[in-house]
Amino acid sequence: MAIKYITKKGSKYWPSKAMKEIAYVNNPKIYKEADKNPIKFWAKIAKEGLDWEEPWTTTYEEKLPYFKWFKGGKLNFSYNCIDRHLFKNANKPALIFVPEPTNEKPTILTYKELHEKVCKFSNVLTKYKIKKGDVVSIYLPLIPEALVAMLACTRIGAIHSVVFSAFSSDALKARIQDGKAKLLITADGYYRRGKPINLLKKAKLAAKRTTIKKIIVVPRLKKSVRGLKIRDFNKEMKTASSKFIPTTVKSEDPMFILYTSGTTGKPKGVVHDTGGYATHAYITTKWNFNLKDNDVMWCTADIGWITGHTYAFYGPLLNGSTTLIYEGSPDFPKPDRWWKIIEKHNVTAFYTAPTAIRMFMKFPEKYIKKYKMPSLKILGSVGEPIDKDAWNWYFKKIGHSRCPIIDTWWQTETGGTIVNVLPGIGPFVPTLAGKSFPGIKHIIVDEKGKEKKKNQLGFIVQKSPFAPGLLHGVYKNHPKYLKTYWQYLTKYKKKYYDSSDGAFITKDNLIRITGRTDDVMKVAGHRLSTAELEDAISQHKLVNECAVVPIPDKLKGEVPVAFLILKHNKHPSNLEKQIKSHVDKKIGPTARPSFIYVVNQLPKTRSGKIMRRILKSLLINEEPKGLSTLLNPKSVDEIKKIIANKNHPK
Ligand code: WT7
Repeated sequence: MAIKYITKKGSKYWPSKAMKEIAYVNNPKIYKEADKNPIKFWAKIAKEGLDWEEPWTTTYEEKLPYFKWFKGGKLNFSYNCIDRHLFKNANKPALIFVPEPTNEKPTILTYKELHEKVCKFSNVLTKYKIKKGDVVSIYLPLIPEALVAMLACTRIGAIHSVVFSAFSSDALKARIQDGKAKLLITADGYYRRGKPINLLKKAKLAAKRTTIKKIIVVPRLKKSVRGLKIRDFNKEMKTASSKFIPTTVKSEDPMFILYTSGTTGKPKGVVHDTGGYATHAYITTKWNFNLKDNDVMWCTADIGWITGHTYAFYGPLLNGSTTLIYEGSPDFPKPDRWWKIIEKHNVTAFYTAPTAIRMFMKFPEKYIKKYKMPSLKILGSVGEPIDKDAWNWYFKKIGHSRCPIIDTWWQTETGGTIVNVLPGIGPFVPTLAGKSFPGIKHIIVDEKGKEKKKNQLGFIVQKSPFAPGLLHGVYKNHPKYLKTYWQYLTKYKKKYYDSSDGAFITKDNLIRITGRTDDVMKVAGHRLSTAELEDAISQHKLVNECAVVPIPDKLKGEVPVAFLILKHNKHPSNLEKQIKSHVDKKIGPTARPSFIYVVNQLPKTRSGKIMRRILKSLLINEEPKGLSTLLNPKSVDEIKKIIANKNHPK
C-alpha cells in the first residue's frame, strides 16, 4: 500500500503523520523564527547549505534599488552542485534523461560522470576564450548537454543566457545582441512527436552579424555538423582534459541572465547573482520537495524558463539529489507517457503547470487509470493560478488522494519560490498559494503602497530585506529595472519590490494570487507581453496598426487575440495564416494569436491610447465601460458586429 502523506481535518487537507515524520520542516514556528531576523535566518541557511571558499563579511547590504547578499563571500556554483557531493555520492545518479523516441534508452549521469563532463566542457569553453564575466548563449533542447553547458559556464564564472529552443531565430538574435554573447551552444535538432526538428538552421541565422565567434553544436540528431564557425560538441569533448579547477567568484557576481517579457516590446534580461540565488534555490528545493536520499525529482519545465533552471537542474543538484528530465511531448507516443515515466523511474516529487494538467484532463480516463504511481510523495504546481477543477484532478488522478499539492507562486525575477505551503506544515487548499516562504515578507497594497486589509484585493509586494533569489538588475538597463520593479520606492519612498501581480490575504493568513495586473499574459504558463506581440504583428507588411488582448481559455489559461487595421485595405484570403507564421518567425509559436479580427478602427482615448480593456469586454461578452472617454465610440459597435459575425470565442 502506498503511503498517505495527507489527512483531512474539517474542510482542509493537512500533512499526515507520515509526511510530518519525513519533512525537513514540520513546525509552523519556523515562520515566526525566520521573521524575527530574516538576515540571520538566511545567513544560517547559506552557511549550512553551501560550501564557501571565503566567508562573507556583510550578510546583507541594501542600497536600493540594489542590494547584495553575502558580500565578501566567495564560492563556485558548479562546485556546490557537483564536486562536494563526490565524496559520498560519486555513483549516485545526478541526472536521468528520458529521450522522446521510445526506442532510445534513458541516459543516466552519475555525479562522477557529470563532474567529468562539466570539467571537459569548461576546458572547451576556455579553449574558445570564454572567461569569467563573458556571456554565453545557450539554445538547446532539454537534453543532458544543456546541463553540462550551463554548469560549465558557472564553473568558469561565465554568465549563461539560455534561450527557449522553441523561440524563433529573431528572438534568439535579439537576446544574443543584448548580451553581446561571444559563443553560442546549440544542437542540430531534437525530437518532437516523433519528428526530428531542425534547430541549427535557426541558430545559424540568429548568429549572423552578431558578436558570436563560434557555435558549438550538439549532434542530437546525429547529423554531421560543419562550417567555418561551427564546432561539434562531441568531438570537442573527446579531446578535452577532464580536469578543471573551479573559478572562484564573488557571491554578488552575476551567474546568469534570463530574458522575460514585460510591458514593453522588448524582453528584458533578468540578472541573477551567484550566492543569493544558490541559497534560495537550495533551500526552497529542499523544503518544498523534501528530497531525501533516494528521491527523484521531476520538474517538467524546459530550461528555457526559470522553473527549468531552478527546479529541473540547479535546486536538486545543490541538494545532491537526482533530477529527471524528459525531452519530448507529454502525449507521445500516447497520453500516458508522463505516468509511465513516473512509475518507471520512481519519481517522488513531481512539479508541473496547471496548463499541462488541464491538457491531461481532456484525454480519455483509460490513459491514466492503470497508473498508481506509488512512489509519489509531493506534487507541485507553478506558472499560473490553479483552478479547483485542475487541483482536484491533479490531487485524485495523479496523487491518488495521497499527496499534498504545493502551489508555488514566484517569477523569473525571484529566482525561486516565494509563496507556497510547506509540505510538512500545510494546509493544502485549492486556489490558495499559501504563505511567504520563511524569511520572506509580502504585503498587499494599493497603488500608493498603503496596506490593504484582509480579503481586500490589491497588489502583492515584497518587503525589505529582499529574498536572496531576487533579481539584481536588468542587464545593462538600469532605467528599466528601476521603472519596472521599484515604482513604490521612487514615487512613495517605500521599500517594496513590485511583483505586478494581484492578490489578497484570507482571514487564515493564506495568500490567493489572482494574476497579473500589467499587460503581461500567461499563455499555457508562458509569459508573454501584449506589447511584444503588438510590436511583432505591426511589423507585418500588411498591418498598419494592431492591438492584442488576452482572453480566458479553458486549456491554456489565457490566449492572445489580435485586432488589426490593414494598410491600403488589402485583405488576402490567407491573412490569418500569414500573421501566424509571421509571429512564429518574430517570437515563436507559443505567441501565436488564437483569433485575428480585421477592423477599421480601434477604440482610442482622445490622447490616442488604445483602450484594450474595451476590446476585452467585447470579446468576453461584457458590457464595455468608459465609452464616453473615447475619441471614436462608433468603433465599438463595428467591432461588436465583427466579433459576432465571426462567431468566435465567448
Ligand atoms: C508570473 C511569473 C513561477 C516561475 C515560472 C513562471 C504567474 C506563477 C503562479 C502561481 C498564480 C502564478 C504570476 C507571475 N504565476 N506562479 N502558483 N499562482 N500565478 O515565471 O514566466 O516569470 O511568470 O506567473 O502572474 O507574476 P514567469
